[in-house]
Amino acid sequence: MASTASVYKNSSKREYVLTDEQRNEYRRISLDSRLAKSSAELGLSSSAHHINTPKLDPCSLMEQLEQNKLRCLSLFSGGGGLDLGFDRAGYEHVASYELIPICKETLKLNRPKWKVFGGVHEGDVTKIDWNIYQDAIDVIHGGPPCQPFSIAGEQKGIDDERNMWGEFIRAVNTIRPSAFVAENVLGILNPKFDSFVQIYILDKLQDYTITKFEMNAADYGVPQIRRRVFFVGFKKVNDFNKFNIPKATYNADHFLSQKKMPSLFDSELPRTLGVRAALGLPEIGFDNLAPTIRSAFTGKRNTTSILNSSAGQKSWGDMEIWPNGVQLDRVKASKFPAKNDHFRLSVQDVALLQGFPESWKFAGAVYQVLGQIGNSVAPPVAYQVAKHVAAALSPHSALSQPSMSPLMRVAG
Ligand SMILES: C[S@@+](CC[C@H](N)C(=O)[O-])C[C@H]1O[C@@H](n2cnc3c(N)ncnc32)[C@H](O)[C@@H]1O
Repeated sequence: MASTASVYKNSSKREYVLTDEQRNEYRRISLDSRLAKSSAELGLSSSAHHINTPKLDPCSLMEQLEQNKLRCLSLFSGGGGLDLGFDRAGYEHVASYELIPICKETLKLNRPKWKVFGGVHEGDVTKIDWNIYQDAIDVIHGGPPCQPFSIAGEQKGIDDERNMWGEFIRAVNTIRPSAFVAENVLGILNPKFDSFVQIYILDKLQDYTITKFEMNAADYGVPQIRRRVFFVGFKKVNDFNKFNIPKATYNADHFLSQKKMPSLFDSELPRTLGVRAALGLPEIGFDNLAPTIRSAFTGKRNTTSILNSSAGQKSWGDMEIWPNGVQLDRVKASKFPAKNDHFRLSVQDVALLQGFPESWKFAGAVYQVLGQIGNSVAPPVAYQVAKHVAAALSPHSALSQPSMSPLMRVAG
């Protein structure tokens, strides 16, 4: 591998300058990879690994609940992570709005009867008059685009034209649902965004009492380190007081060195599976959680890699898994050996590592599917939030009993 480090030519544009040595090395790797793929497609290479049968069924992390009679509206729906979590928690789906047409196709593929508005003409939330949903929605959920706050981006916050918090808030303040759920990246908790959060989120939602908290997908049985922030707001203080932040349902401490908040942790919990175990790969004497899968609509777009950072490369390597050149299905992946003989992933494997069950299909080419997966809320995490919101809104739920969970009131 090239020894000289690459440098940023212009840090605001994040443009790499490669040395000649590096450029040649990357060209060689790319050529090798194309040759290996062609020979696999022509059936000239023998199968590198068996077709894996996963051990983890993400449906077991989110048991289908009975209809709870709560109606939900989905904004910025993407490939449907939040939508699926709410669906399995028993909500009635009223409509989804999403700018990217392929995401609409994914939602319709899985739930043909759902009302899904997609593309610039129908799905752009900036153009919708939300008055049509007054009295028709109990919970609005959505993940406004996270690039403005992501450490992978420039963190321009309010100055970033992709900041869509204002649109989410406009929908909430027009429709006035009983509750809302908004998801975002951890970057939004950076102190540099404190005033943004106060002025442009909390102060704009004066009629809601709001709590914000962090969840890690690994604490809910998903074999991935994926830390995200949730803002949950209730119109009635009484409902807010009945809301409990979802406690961990799985124990991932054997993988994670960081200390958890003691009240969220219970040592009797079942253990989160590692990646190899979840995918049903042979034992190699080592397993781990997946590093955070990259959000592929950010940065380089048409990529079939799920690598988020160079640290991630080592983590995947230690598990003998190849995080680049993800294939459309398991048969193709098994026929296309990674150069170092590490296991090559298929999109079904990546979806599973994000907590999507095999039954949830994605429309589009590999890079588009990875984009939808990497951008999503892990459905089992969405499910836990949805379930606890429903409990707070239902009068007789065991989940809504006051507990010692560290609910932090941040506005209202
Ligand atoms: C973080 S992703 C949401 C993922 C989704 N919550 C899930 O769990 O799968 C944000 C989504 O917002 C969409 N988006 C951005 N601007 C939009 C707009 N003006 N109207 C509708 N959707 C938009 C993006 O295309 C992207 O799919």
